[in-house]
Amino acid sequence: MNINSICVCGAGTMGNGIAQAAAQAGFSVILYELNTAVLEKAKNATSENLQMLVGKEKITAEEREKIILLIHYTNDIQTCLADVFIEAIVEKAEIKIALFNQLAELNHSECIFATNTSSLSVTAIAEKIQRPERVIGMHFFNPATIMKLVEVVNTPHTNETTTNTIMELAKQMGKVPVLCKDAPGFIVNRVARSFYTETMRLVEEGHVSVEAADKLLEASGFKMGPFKLMDLIGNDVNYAVSCSVYEQMNKNERFKPSYLQEQKVKEGKLGKKSGEGFYKY
Ligand SMILES: NC(=O)c1ccc[n+]([C@@H]2O[C@H](COP(=O)([O-])OP(=O)(O)OC[C@H]3O[C@@H](n4cnc5c(N)ncnc54)[C@H](O)[C@@H]3O)[C@@H](O)[C@H]2O)c1
Repeated sequence: MNINSICVCGAGTMGNGIAQAAAQAGFSVILYELNTAVLEKAKNATSENLQMLVGKEKITAEEREKIILLIHYTNDIQTCLADVFIEAIVEKAEIKIALFNQLAELNHSECIFATNTSSLSVTAIAEKIQRPERVIGMHFFNPATIMKLVEVVNTPHTNETTTNTIMELAKQMGKVPVLCKDAPGFIVNRVARSFYTETMRLVEEGHVSVEAADKLLEASGFKMGPFKLMDLIGNDVNYAVSCSVYEQMNKNERFKPSYLQEQKVKEGKLGKKSGEGFYKY
């Protein structure tokens, strides 16, 4: 399928990065977000990110201008007309489903709905959308402008056109798409649960400090220690993924979410985005 336009929904941590990556690949992008303050912040962040790329001589000043012009920022859903929708809104199935259904009313019946969910069942979302064969997971990693991996998540309903279009789109965006089936946490987020929860357990039990755990794991080859990474991802988002995988794995003890992270979320210590998480920013 030919993609003429992409609409990214949600201009938070992930949506903004995905929109920038798509515009850098030459696509015309609509970035839809309910919160106008978030939209404004996203616009400024993209402008600054691209300026940094100019500074590093990765793009020219003219290219920066072109990329900026390719992104149209809106909080009006009526203007969201596109061939592919990539949603990166709040991690709640019913809200994602409501959004896709609203967009389906406004758009042609062939448009594709891709969800960037970290852990919700893509199949359960698809089954609540008319023509579920056009629903797929397109799971980017943080920061979306830099990380190459994209898990493309097929449900039993996804048709070949949808899969091929999204695989191709990811490649056009300079990403490395890996096709996987819909399963709790897909592949990376399931494997990564232990990286986070087991390290938090070590801290809870008093075996190691947050700082020492990060230093040790970085020295052993990880680019970022688990606590720095959770602060980057957002403790609310990371905790929600742990809870979701735990529930979907029938509350298997191995996947039990951490009390320490639950506390951080309750205290509003969400990480970089709120100014404090496991570290202060
Ligand atoms: N943060 C990560 O590292 C990461 C990585 C991969 C995937 N994800 C997934 O991406 C999604 C977004 O995560 P995030 O970290 O960017 O969240 P975020 O909280 O930074 O951003 C979400 C944005 O969506 C907006 N929003 C909520 N409902 C909306 C609606 N109905 N229409 C339009 N905008 C709406 C919110 O105002 C908010 O700005 C989640 O599903 C999450 O699981 C997150």
